[in-house]
Amino acid sequence: MHIQSFDCGDPDLNDFLADDAKDYYAQLMGVTYLVECKEKELAAYYCLFTDKIVFDFSDKGDYKRKWWQVFNKKNKIHFKKRRKSYPAVKIGRLAVASNFERNGIGRFILDAVKFMLVESRNIGCRFLTVDAYKNALGFYQKNGFDFLSTEDENEDTRLMYFDLKNVVRSY
Ligand SMILES: CC(C)(COP(=O)(O)OP(=O)(O)OC[C@H]1O[C@@H](n2cnc3c(N)ncnc32)[C@H](O)[C@@H]1OP(=O)(O)O)[C@@H](O)C(=O)NCCC(=O)NCCS
Repeated sequence: MHIQSFDCGDPDLNDFLADDAKDYYAQLMGVTYLVECKEKELAAYYCLFTDKIVFDFSDKGDYKRKWWQVFNKKNKIHFKKRRKSYPAVKIGRLAVASNFERNGIGRFILDAVKFMLVESRNIGCRFLTVDAYKNALGFYQKNGFDFLSTEDENEDTRLMYFDLKNVVRSY
């Protein structure tokens, strides 16, 4: 498995694996998982760390409050369990090697992460989040992710989330 020669077509994602992933692990800032194919070739990697979805009511008062209500309703969060922040895990990085793209590996990874978080029940985690690249928005939408806000519509990345309760509901 050759970490240095991994190529997903995005230099930042390639460099993260080659140069930074080990340090993130050593500093307890992110755990990187490698996915290899049968022939032991490195097909993909992803990195996870803890996160939270936060609603800051001091900023844009009523608008944020409304947005928070919509979010709670949409995700069927019980009235008594509504909070200003919810526990989450972030997909810090996710990259499939160019020669393995569009073979279902990205979906397989997301499904595995969702399942792991819901099944282990070692710690409370309601949402999976990602700062999605513009070119990958459709991929995350197809995997059940939604946009948290419209405020980042013109940014390079958009914050998206997946409600892990949907995995439980589908059992
Ligand atoms: C984006 C990426 C992770 C997708 O992984 P993948 O293994 O190629 O995707 P899959 O084969 O699992 O695709 C699952 C579904 O998403 C669709 N899809 C895949 N990439 C897509 C994209 N970039 N835009 C829109 N839809 C996409 C597939 O067509 C498939 O849809 P279907 O179920 O209707 O057939 C991968 O292409 C990649 O690593 N790209 C370069 C790095 C990158 O952009 N990473 C994302 C960082 S946020």
